Amino acid sequence: MDNRAIAVFDSGLGGLTAVKELRKILPGEDIVFFGDTARVPYGTRSRETILQYARQDIRFLLKQDVKFLLAACGTISSTYPTHEAARLPVPYTGVVSCACRAAAKATRNGKIGVIGTSATIRSGSYPAALRDMDPRYQITSVACPLFVPLVENGFFGDHNQVSELVIAQYLEPVKAAGVDTLILGCTHYPLLAPMIARFMGPQVTLIDVGRETADAVKLALADLDLLAQPGREGKATYFVSDTTESFAANADIFLGEYAGGRVIQIAIDTY
Ligand code: DGL
Repeated sequence: MDNRAIAVFDSGLGGLTAVKELRKILPGEDIVFFGDTARVPYGTRSRETILQYARQDIRFLLKQDVKFLLAACGTISSTYPTHEAARLPVPYTGVVSCACRAAAKATRNGKIGVIGTSATIRSGSYPAALRDMDPRYQITSVACPLFVPLVENGFFGDHNQVSELVIAQYLEPVKAAGVDTLILGCTHYPLLAPMIARFMGPQVTLIDVGRETADAVKLALADLDLLAQPGREGKATYFVSDTTESFAANADIFLGEYAGGRVIQIAIDTY
């Protein structure tokens, strides 16, 4: 048993989609969230810059006395090296392997689509993890660099004409490939899920990386005997690198019904 917090971090607010799932399935856990709102997006940057940012994010979070690190960001998860993660003083997980396990379970025809930021798709992380599970998978990967700015600017919901056009443009080759499973490989994308689902059709299962990872975190904590004391009420603390006002204005979009907790601004480039 361990009442220390779970650390969840992202380049911006997309990782809150994972926090929302964690709050639902592990209400007794404290959560420390860091969103690098001053430096988002990471997905258009070089590997070196993303690595430097991820290392600073992790150094900051380790100072918060946390028991587990969750990179709730497809871009960080695809870039941060496994050998470096293995040397961290607390267990670490990203979103890639959890999402791929869920996709492997869901697919019936072995044709799997992956969408993510430019850095995520360039890294080849999702196809590599999927092919490790079964080399026969036919994988279609497409970078969707406009999705994050669309979400950050509120172009989501059930219907948005601009987003629907962009979705159709990016996803046409994925649909044409006949995939029956599509990994939304970025934690911003669940906000576009209703429109993506409509474009892809009811025969395609969408994999939400935030949800899948929250389930995996729960299992890992139980395995490592790190779950918090039963019956306690968990609290959330949010750290951001841009102003707390911009967090307050946008956080509820990602968190849904839950937007409690303290919000604190930090200078991430000093870590
Ligand atoms: N939430 C990030 C991810 O999951 C995308 C945002 C960004 O480009 O920084 O990849």
